[in-house]
Amino acid sequence: MKPLPKATELHAKASATFADKLAATQAQLKAAAIELQPLKQASSLGAEDVVITHIINSLQLDIPVFVLETGALHSDTLALLERLQAHSRAPVQVYRPQHEAVIAFVKQPGQQAIYESMANRKACCGIRKLEPLGRALQAQKAWITGLRREQSQARAEVSAQEADVTNGVPIVKLNPLVDWTWGDVWHYIASNHVDYNPLHDQFFPSIGCAPCTRAISLGEDFRAGRWWWEDETAKECGLHVKA
Ligand code: ADX
Ligand code: SF4
Repeated sequence: MKPLPKATELHAKASATFADKLAATQAQLKAAAIELQPLKQASSLGAEDVVITHIINSLQLDIPVFVLETGALHSDTLALLERLQAHSRAPVQVYRPQHEAVIAFVKQPGQQAIYESMANRKACCGIRKLEPLGRALQAQKAWITGLRREQSQARAEVSAQEADVTNGVPIVKLNPLVDWTWGDVWHYIASNHVDYNPLHDQFFPSIGCAPCTRAISLGEDFRAGRWWWEDETAKECGLHVKA
């Protein structure tokens, strides 16, 4: 049987203004590394985030990367995290949930309860993602994410720089790939030989926790593989919900 095409072969297609977008992203990150210290990049180890980390490393910027290791990530994602830790110039920080809180949730209502109600699913995201995010962003002036406008309707209004609030304190949120297309992201990965998550070769567009992420089929919406049992408008875990 013919092997399936790689994500790089399937998606890499630079838009006409790619060079300008890349220059703007590099300029934004360079300026932030000087003007917005202390700041960090949030990486899910998905395609957008490995691009941003690659730019941070190639420009030798003083910006650490952090990963929320929820305890429910795919083994491919954990393996990529190890490779990042081995090869990144920028420090890689890993934040894990509080063990007791995870065990209490698994005991009652049980991990499977995330499929039974949105309240349970959000409680799990609260324990595994939001509480560790609060710790990751403690005393930071800014954080960097891989949000793009193209990703979903809810993200269509995202700006390159936004005012955000974490731990009840204002923080700047930078979204340096805001106007990049999916084709731009993969063009960058392919032309710079960036190490990426092999789940993308199995039709996972975005990388989240294993119980809440599935592959999508041709023509399905970009976010269709996340929390697919829930209502379309609710597909955010709280990391990027406006205060
Ligand atoms: S989510 O809200 O649905 O989980 P998504 O997977 O689209 O978010 O990722 C959007 C951005 O949120 C990523 O580009 C990254 O900056 C941040 N992010 C998401 N998951 C994580 C994670 N596990 N660790 C660190 N940052 C993350
Ligand atoms: Fe829990 Fe799923 Fe949220 Fe991960 S994405 S924290 S497994 S509910």
